[in-house]
Amino acid sequence: MSVQKQVRRLTAPDIAGRKNAEPVVSLTAYHAHTASIADKYCDFLLVGDSLGMVMHGFESTVPVPLDLMIMHGKAVVRGSARALVVVDMPFGTYEESPAIAFRNAARIMKETDCGAVKLEGGAHMAETIGYLVQRGIPVMAHIGLTPQSINTIGGFKTQGRQRDQWAAIEADARAVADAGAFSVVLEAMAEPLAARITKSIAIPTIGIGASAACDGQILVMEDMLGLSPRVPKFVKEFGKVGRAIERAIKLYSADVRSRSFPGPENTYDVKD
Ligand code: KIV
Repeated sequence: MSVQKQVRRLTAPDIAGRKNAEPVVSLTAYHAHTASIADKYCDFLLVGDSLGMVMHGFESTVPVPLDLMIMHGKAVVRGSARALVVVDMPFGTYEESPAIAFRNAARIMKETDCGAVKLEGGAHMAETIGYLVQRGIPVMAHIGLTPQSINTIGGFKTQGRQRDQWAAIEADARAVADAGAFSVVLEAMAEPLAARITKSIAIPTIGIGASAACDGQILVMEDMLGLSPRVPKFVKEFGKVGRAIERAIKLYSADVRSRSFPGPENTYDVKD
């Protein structure tokens, strides 16, 4: 028997149980310190492969390696105690076959101690989702705009603007739900379509640029903090952290240039 932790972490079934209930609150998190702050307010934290663009300067999520996801996944699990931690499976680690997907998802779960993985794709990934779920790996699906397919989609565009696109996207939502996904991210999706999907499937829909019709929302933390240099139009900013950082660094630089930095009376004792 393991030593019980004081705080019980939310699980994939807890999130699945939030259908038609209190909205699911979630953010991406890539480091231990921001994870520990977001943990107090979020139901799940996503170690999204967007970290490749946000933190590592890649042009898309396509180049993100599995080892990088695992490294950031470990940091977020260490920094949090209550929220479910979901780690993205990066491009090229799950599409080839269900068995390869299982091998890589199991590595993510064992090495990071996260509670679930997320992968992109609808009906064509349903077999893989079922394979993982039957073998003990909770899967969050991701449909609509799927950034790992940027090279075939051709750009970050809203999905389902035309009614004739709806049937295929609705079929994707049904397929991932039927395969056993515990929730599904709807990215960049026209509101009427997001509303129809949310009404028609039994698992929570988590929107990002997909309207309040969804069962919850996820945003890239740096975007809502006002820290990202380029932010999609749908993102509400709740802070101006980029400006605050610049102001602080400017003050620091002036401080050092004027030689007013602390002397020997200051120690490494931590401030209250
Ligand atoms: O990688 C990511 O941050 C994501 C969210 C946009 C849902 O997949």
